[in-house]
Amino acid sequence: MTITNFLFKIARKLDPERAHLLTIQALKLGITPRYSNNSDEVLTSEVFGMKFQNPMGLAAGFDKSAEAFNSIDKLGCGFVEVGTLTLKPQAGNERPRVFRLEEDQAIINRYGFNNDGLSCAVKRLSKRKNPAGILGVNIGINKNSPTPISDYVEALRLASPLADYITINISSPNTPGLRDLQSSEKLEKLLGAIEKSYFENEGQTFTPPILLKIAPDLTEKEIKEIVQIALKTSVSGLVVSNTTVTRPTLLKGYKKTEPGGLSGPPLFELSTKKLAQTYLACKGKIPLIGVGGVDSAETAYAKIRAGASLVQLYTAVTYRGPRLFKSINDGLDLLIKNDNFRNVQDAVGIDAKYWADKKILD
Ligand SMILES: Cc1cc2nc3c(=O)[nH]c(=O)nc-3n(C[C@H](O)[C@H](O)[C@H](O)COP(=O)(O)O)c2cc1C
Repeated sequence: MTITNFLFKIARKLDPERAHLLTIQALKLGITPRYSNNSDEVLTSEVFGMKFQNPMGLAAGFDKSAEAFNSIDKLGCGFVEVGTLTLKPQAGNERPRVFRLEEDQAIINRYGFNNDGLSCAVKRLSKRKNPAGILGVNIGINKNSPTPISDYVEALRLASPLADYITINISSPNTPGLRDLQSSEKLEKLLGAIEKSYFENEGQTFTPPILLKIAPDLTEKEIKEIVQIALKTSVSGLVVSNTTVTRPTLLKGYKKTEPGGLSGPPLFELSTKKLAQTYLACKGKIPLIGVGGVDSAETAYAKIRAGASLVQLYTAVTYRGPRLFKSINDGLDLLIKNDNFRNVQDAVGIDAKYWADKKILD
């Protein structure tokens, strides 16, 4: 048994927050298996003006404080998104605040943006070792901030020089009022302020693409409104989706009533439907990252066919271990070739209509 498999087995026996901390420490020490991300040509693509070696990324929330991204890069993923980072360091909610629903292979979390803060993260990000791995930085706001819009603007200013792309997180359910920023009026104000400071700042030499991360609990009408605003401003893409505050009746895990955001397979159908609705509303004008319940090549491929140019996951890697990215990429390669597509981008959105109209069991 390798040391990483051994550590993974131990971590699975610990409570989920301790397991998370242990994993981050191990990664920081460089205890990680190494899988190549340099896949077959069918998996490589150009999105947001960057070349991705494969479409699979690690979603935000795993490397919250940008401590371990240099090692995560080695797991065979095409990109890593660190954060959510806030301007000031923040302890987050009281423990326990993350729960495994083993029977559902799911997680409920209400961490509440615990992170070391952007100043600390900026120092770490500036020590980035491997420029070949694409790095996204996900930004949010401190709890009860009286100045959410200027906080986002400042966070963006700090993170931009060090990120290949920035995700503006307006969809975590564990920061009071955050999801309200998805409403048309507030979103227009937020993006207007970002655009003004970001794109009109003459000193800014590099402006990485800006993505918006949205919730799976939006209605189709709300999604269409967000897309319209995104297309009017300089948003380069959308990440669909964050965790859900809904609880499918089929959930079995006895922690299912814990408050917080639900992730993993029970989120798959809902988030894929919302992804497809977003794809159709965008009419292909901006690329999407599909996230929510991906745990296999088949589910990753379904996201792509529903409209995702890139795919992320988090929950599944905590259940399945570090080899997951490699096995999904191997499987995706076969699925794409079996369908006679030249590459991953040829499959994007071909099932969007099916997914957008799909009845979801709740
Ligand atoms: C424990 C945990 C913490 C998370 N923290 C964040 C976060 O800080 N910022 C964010 O944008 N998303 C966060 N997420 C959401 C994930 O990035 C992802 O959108 C969601 O979990 C759905 O993907 P999954 O089913 O593959 O986990 C978190 C998810 C989990 C499970």
